[in-house]
Amino acid sequence: MIDELRRLREEALDAFAKARDAGELERLRVRYLGRKDGLVSGVLRRLGSLSPQERPSVGAAANRAKKLLAEALQDRLGEVTAARPETERALDLTLPPRRKWRGSIHPVSQVIDDIWRIFESLGFARARGPEVDTEWYNFVALNTPLDHPAADEQDTLYLAPGLLLRSHTSPVQIRTMERYPPPIRIMAPGMVYRRDTYDATHTPAFAQIEGLVVDEGVTFVDFKATLAEFARRFWGPGTQVRFRPSFFPFTEPSAEVDVKRVIVREDGREEETDWIEIMGAGMVDPAVLDNVGYDSERYTGWAFGMGPARVAMLRHGVRDLRLFYENDMRFLGQFT
Ligand code: DAH
Repeated sequence: MIDELRRLREEALDAFAKARDAGELERLRVRYLGRKDGLVSGVLRRLGSLSPQERPSVGAAANRAKKLLAEALQDRLGEVTAARPETERALDLTLPPRRKWRGSIHPVSQVIDDIWRIFESLGFARARGPEVDTEWYNFVALNTPLDHPAADEQDTLYLAPGLLLRSHTSPVQIRTMERYPPPIRIMAPGMVYRRDTYDATHTPAFAQIEGLVVDEGVTFVDFKATLAEFARRFWGPGTQVRFRPSFFPFTEPSAEVDVKRVIVREDGREEETDWIEIMGAGMVDPAVLDNVGYDSERYTGWAFGMGPARVAMLRHGVRDLRLFYENDMRFLGQFT
C-alpha cells in the first residue's frame, strides 16, 4: 500500500503539472483527493484490512500524501490563474453592466429654457451681454450712483478699476437699448456675481434672467398682464400673481412680484401654496431711457429680473440652492 501511495502521489503530481486551468485542477482534486471516491481516500478506507502493526505507518503515509497533494494542487492553481491573460482575469460576468453615460440639461438651464419659450411665443427676442462689465453699465447707466446704498447691496468682484463681474443681468438692458432703437422686447439670461454669503439661499455666482419691454404707450397694465400670463403658462392656470411695492433705482414704480401656485396633493386634492417672491420688476425709470438716448417723453417700458435657480428649487422641492452649483453628478443626474 505504501508503494501504491507513492505511485498515486507521482501520478497526481504529474497530472497537476500538466493541468492548464482551474477546471482541470478541480477534476483532478475530485479524482485524487475527493472525500468519497478519491483515490487517496480509497487507500485510507482499506486500512481496516491491514494488520494492527501495519496500520499506523500506512495511515500516516496516506495522510502525508494527502496533505502534500493538497498543497501541490493549491500551488498549481495559483500558477494557472496567474498565467491567465489580464483581460480574462478581470472578466466578472456577475457584475451589473455599466450604465451608458448620458448628458442632460442642467435643471437651472431647463427652467431658463422653459421661461424663454413662453416669452418667445409672446414676441420676445433673446439678448446677451458680457459677464465682465463696467461700472457704467452695471450701476451708473442704470440710475445707480456708485455711492448709492443699492450699489452696496450688489457688491461684487472687481477685476480692475471700473471693471467688475456683473452683479445682475440688468446691464444687458442698457447695452441692448444703446444698439437698437425702440420697440424692444428682450429676454437676457446669464450668470451674475455678488459678494454674498454661501448658504442655502445664496451663492456668489448664480443665474438671472432679465426681461425688458420698451415701446410707445406701454403701461403698467401691459406689465401686469404679461407677467400674469407668463405665470399662468409656467405654473398652471390657477396661479395668482401679486405686485408688492418695492424699490430699484432703475424702475419707477418698482415691485416685487410674488406668485401663489395651486398644487395637487398626493390624495388628489388641490392646495394653494404660500406667496413666493419670484422677481424684482417695475416700470423703466425715465432716467434710464435718457441715459441711452431714448426719448423718455415718447417711450415707456417695464422690466424684470428673475432668479431661475429659485424657480428650479420650487419646481423640484430642493431646499438648498447650493446643490445646483456644486456639480455633483449624483444630484444633477436626477434631472434628465
Ligand atoms: N437687477 C435686479 C437685481 O438683481 C432685479 C431687477 C429688478 C431687474 C427690477 C429689473 C427690474 O429689470 O426692473 O436685484
